Amino acid sequence: MQIRRLDIKEQMPLELLLLADPCKEMIETYFARSECYIAEIGEQVVGVYVLLPTRPVTIELVNIAVREEEQGKGIGKQLLRHAIKVAKEKGCKTIEVGTGNSSIGQLALYQKCGFNMVSIEKDYFLKHYPETIYENGIQCRDMVRLSLDLQT
Ligand code: COA
Repeated sequence: MQIRRLDIKEQMPLELLLLADPCKEMIETYFARSECYIAEIGEQVVGVYVLLPTRPVTIELVNIAVREEEQGKGIGKQLLRHAIKVAKEKGCKTIEVGTGNSSIGQLALYQKCGFNMVSIEKDYFLKHYPETIYENGIQCRDMVRLSLDLQT
């Protein structure tokens, strides 16, 4: 498997991006201002992540997704570690990510890679997403924000 930056002339892997964020309009809004990296096995794109600079030395991981058939094989962790490396190389001091209160696997992944919880945006998903979201039998209501200090 290789991870590389997607060229601006290449098509965005929308099907994969939608796995992490069901709102196409939201994806299109941040995609234009972000850097996108893809994981490929041969010709097939199996994973993606997107980094958006938000403040002078802060970058946000706004999307990370692995093709459903390839999940649970360590690709997500490799993508996240790659994103952390890229953020460090850019001179960023902090990398941030947000996920739902019901996203148990994602919360595990981020914390296993060193992220700490910093805040909760109450009712974020109720306010910004028209459909009711359930994961792991839990209603997704709040956005849990996590960050990793890249200087330590
Ligand atoms: N409880 C505890 N640990 C869990 C877990 C759970 N419910 N679910 C996953 N994990 C752990 C795994 O055990 C693994 O840790 P380990 O290597 O120490 O065993 C780690 O999380 C990541 O596993 P990995 O196989 O690298 O993840 P993946 O390739 O399946 O990718 C996602 C993870 C989240 C990118 C993938 O599941 C995905 O694309 N989901 C849909 C899109 C999405 O939700 N994106 C994130 C939006 S916030």
